[in-house]
Amino acid sequence: MNPIDIINKTKKAVPLTNEEIQYLVNGFTSGEIPDYQMSAWLMAVCINSLTESETIALTFAMRDTGITLDLNADIGRVTADKHSTGGVGDKTTLIIAPVVASCGVAMPKMSGRGLGHTGGTIDKLESISGYRTEIPSAEFIDIVKTTGFSVISQSEKIAPADKKIYALRNATGTVDSIPLICASVMSKKLAVNADCLLLDVKWGTGAFMKTKEDAHKLAELMEKVGKSAGKKCRAVVTDMNEPLGHCIGNALEVREAVELLQGKIKGRLYDTCIELSADILELAGRGTHEECVAMAKNAVSSGDALRAFRKTVILHGGDGDICNDVELLPKAKYSHVIYAPKDVQIISVNTEELGMASLLLGAGRIAKDDEIDTTAGIVLEFSVGDKISVDAPLMTLYSNVCSDFSEVAMRAYNALKFRTLTSDVSTLT
Ligand code: URA
Repeated sequence: MNPIDIINKTKKAVPLTNEEIQYLVNGFTSGEIPDYQMSAWLMAVCINSLTESETIALTFAMRDTGITLDLNADIGRVTADKHSTGGVGDKTTLIIAPVVASCGVAMPKMSGRGLGHTGGTIDKLESISGYRTEIPSAEFIDIVKTTGFSVISQSEKIAPADKKIYALRNATGTVDSIPLICASVMSKKLAVNADCLLLDVKWGTGAFMKTKEDAHKLAELMEKVGKSAGKKCRAVVTDMNEPLGHCIGNALEVREAVELLQGKIKGRLYDTCIELSADILELAGRGTHEECVAMAKNAVSSGDALRAFRKTVILHGGDGDICNDVELLPKAKYSHVIYAPKDVQIISVNTEELGMASLLLGAGRIAKDDEIDTTAGIVLEFSVGDKISVDAPLMTLYSNVCSDFSEVAMRAYNALKFRTLTSDVSTLT
């Protein structure tokens, strides 16, 4: 076997054998196959795609470059994991994990830091004073046994091939390939090895997948890969054509998640979290979908999910009092309100542009070692379709590092598409 033959086969869309895929992944991970040959193969995949069985073989080969956890033996009850393909204002893990945990299904979760327009779940949790995201695995398991869930930073030992391949994809324009995204995500999830796996594939202006059709293709492929590994697995497609909830940015999103768990927030974020939690509970055999929806709602309204969140935060060394008083979360030094210039109706938002504005305020990373400003971000005062009167606030920008908001404010404002209303805000022109 040699890399040139493998590149040529994929270039001509001739399917690779499992052994060829393992040879490529192991050779690249160990450093025997150089970046330039792996890049050529990745580009061939972007152009010709992979078959379903090649994608499964790639996922398993990547998973097997590292450890696979044995959560069943360690935790002793049914475990679940979820993955979202990411989006702007997506704080669902902070809500779903305590909801599911308080319904009796354990969620031992490894998450990433964000790269690009928003922070990852780990960045969000690190905005809680004292919260440790890197803890020994025995402590991780103990916390899950005590409260039902824990969220820690992805171990370096989980699918190390993915880290190396992802860095190369990022540098060679080969990120946007459905089989490569599938193998990247699923190799890590299968190595964590929970019994049930929910995959939330986002589509829209703020998502990796810009079309619903591509999101469905990715979702179907991920579900097949998960099932072929023996997992109870479901992939759903959800909308990211507007931010999820009203807050974008790390501490701001923790605040919104806590307020939702306090029972103060309903609407799209609440509905999405209840649906996704119910999907996980159903996969875990807790009842019919309707029964699981009722259980998830009850976990919020009874305060059980908030109590589970508080306990987990405390066991991670974090300030649990933020669950009673969100004002204890870190706050930005500078803020800037953008007002409606006239009576308008919000027709649509370019969600990615709002994410980029948030990144420029300090909430995201351009390079992987960039420091995040946990206080930075945007609070939106509208949902798409809302009518806003002249001089009413549209959004507030927050930052500790940026005191001159003019450029970012313009970018955030330009992300909105309006329809002008006549003097009476209820009447469209
Ligand atoms: N997230 C991942 O983990 N991998 C991808 O390829 C894309 C998004």
